[in-house]
Amino acid sequence: MKAAVVDDFSRPPHYQDFPDPVAKGRGEVVVGVLAAGLHPRVRSQAGGSHYTSTGELPLIPGVDAVVRDPKGKIRYAIIDVDETTLGTMAERTVIDLDRSVVLPDGTDPVAVAAAMNPAMSSWVALRRRIEFGRRQRVAVLGATGNAGRMAIQVAKRFGASEVIAAGRDTAKLAELSVLGADLTCTLDQLAQAADVDVVIDYLWGEPTAKAMVEILTNRADRGKQLTWIEVGAVAGPEAAVPAAALRSARLEIVGSGIGSVAGRDFVEEIPKLAKAVADGAFDVRAKAVPLSEVEKVWTDSAGSDDRIVLVP
Ligand SMILES: NC(=O)c1ccc[n+]([C@@H]2O[C@H](COP(=O)([O-])OP(=O)(O)OC[C@H]3O[C@@H](n4cnc5c(N)ncnc54)[C@H](OP(=O)(O)O)[C@@H]3O)[C@@H](O)[C@H]2O)c1
Repeated sequence: MKAAVVDDFSRPPHYQDFPDPVAKGRGEVVVGVLAAGLHPRVRSQAGGSHYTSTGELPLIPGVDAVVRDPKGKIRYAIIDVDETTLGTMAERTVIDLDRSVVLPDGTDPVAVAAAMNPAMSSWVALRRRIEFGRRQRVAVLGATGNAGRMAIQVAKRFGASEVIAAGRDTAKLAELSVLGADLTCTLDQLAQAADVDVVIDYLWGEPTAKAMVEILTNRADRGKQLTWIEVGAVAGPEAAVPAAALRSARLEIVGSGIGSVAGRDFVEEIPKLAKAVADGAFDVRAKAVPLSEVEKVWTDSAGSDDRIVLVP
């Protein structure tokens, strides 16, 4: 079969022949891939820098996909985190049926492949990492990216009374009110988000350290719980959080991702999220690209606003 193959972590995947996959375990089947998203997680997988990377090569990247199963059903599937070399950017792959969900007839495979990973980040964070009550106020840091845009929509869907969308690009921020953002602000205007109950953070690094101090010191009631969910780290892997900030306000910091959320919890949320995406509940930015162009698009699309979806 043809596949996107990484044989060197310093180079983009190359489109080439690769041995056909074989199903080995119980519940596993070989499926045809219809659409696979090029998510930041996939870039770090292909670069060997993701925390789940084992260093083993060659590998086919891709952590999820819309596939056609042997009975002809269209499914959304996620690849087990322990499967580090056979991903979804190929004509065929192996899925565990228990990590997949059948999609309704007429679903757009590209939209689902684009949306599930970024949407899952906030969906799982709010459903599985914290007790998220209705009428809570939420700030999204890094709201202009695919996951941030989804977080606005997911928080609203789960009953947030107000969503404040923060980012660094004012032109992109201006587009977020149609998604449900009640207020948008740049990262140096976060005093406006001082009284939120929950922060969904895709940034980390220096912007988060600054944002935390800004929000905590401007809080009207420092005894009111603030839950800060670390979900992404596009601005840096470390954030210097002052000890005083933690002592002087009722701040709880939690992370949400593979490991802090059990695999079975992710799997349990897939059907509900997949249905919402397939029903068109979310505004999705997707661009389909033939798998044969993987090497070019890998480099050209870095920083692209649309989620690239590779189509074999
Ligand atoms: N834990 C989970 O379950 C989970 C799941 C999915 C994704 N994630 C993580 O979430 C993060 C975002 O994913 P995504 O799909 O939204 O990626 P994306 O679509 O590529 O968006 C990235 C966003 O980050 C912003 N950004 C990059 N560097 C920045 C900086 N130095 N300061 C401020 N903003 C910066 C960009 O801002 P501009 O718009 O200004 O360019 C862009 O909006 C990634 O780290 C990803 O791995 C985590």
